[in-house]
Amino acid sequence: MDRIINIVQQNYLSSFRRKSDELLIEMEKYALEHNVPILNWQSAEFLEQLVIIKSPRRVLEVGTAIGYSAIRIARNLRAKSVLHTIEKSADNLNLAKEFISKSGLVTKIKLLEGEALNIMPQLKKKYDLIFLDADKEDYKRLFDYSLVLLRRGGLLVVDNLLWHGYAASSRVPKQYKESTRSIREFNVLFMNQPNLKATILPVGDGLGIGVKK
Ligand SMILES: C[S@@+](CC[C@H](N)C(=O)[O-])C[C@H]1O[C@@H](n2cnc3c(N)ncnc32)[C@H](O)[C@@H]1O
Repeated sequence: MDRIINIVQQNYLSSFRRKSDELLIEMEKYALEHNVPILNWQSAEFLEQLVIIKSPRRVLEVGTAIGYSAIRIARNLRAKSVLHTIEKSADNLNLAKEFISKSGLVTKIKLLEGEALNIMPQLKKKYDLIFLDADKEDYKRLFDYSLVLLRRGGLLVVDNLLWHGYAASSRVPKQYKESTRSIREFNVLFMNQPNLKATILPVGDGLGIGVKK
């Protein structure tokens, strides 16, 4: 199960997909060949739009992987804005460093290396936008830390809330059972958090958007 939107609509919308440049194509190819989950094109375009609309001064990403979404976010930041992005996998960190260096955005993107559950409680300054794209089992705790780190009026964006369609399905393969349970519990929490005006949109794999009250 991997299609949230009807295939005809999906194909139609794909015809308007923005063309990736050489670096993004290289990263998309790498991710595909090495099974690295990166933002799907519609979520990536939507996130870029949010960055442009919100014009955030400080952005935090949780889950850098190879730096694909980080580069797409950072390219749309204003001159003095910064992106902090947290990654715990040493292999992904090495790749992210390589790609970020190629992107020419080393001064805009700061990699925070390690476990987000340890790093986030140590961060002091608030963020205008936080993008959560990490292990689904960690979402609830990462959400708590995000709420503390998000300034009032700030935007919280969370990926995979439809979880390949399994969140809404009664048939969930064994290997997805645990993560699906985490996503379902997270969605209830996310939609009922009193400090957040939240919605879940059928963009990509399901994007949660919350504005801190
Ligand atoms: C879905 S990928 C991120 C994709 C990336 N945002 C993109 O679209 O290009 C998730 C990444 O988060 C990292 N990760 C997962 N849980 C984490 C945690 N608790 N702390 C730090 N990194 C984490 C994983 O190692 C993996 O590289």
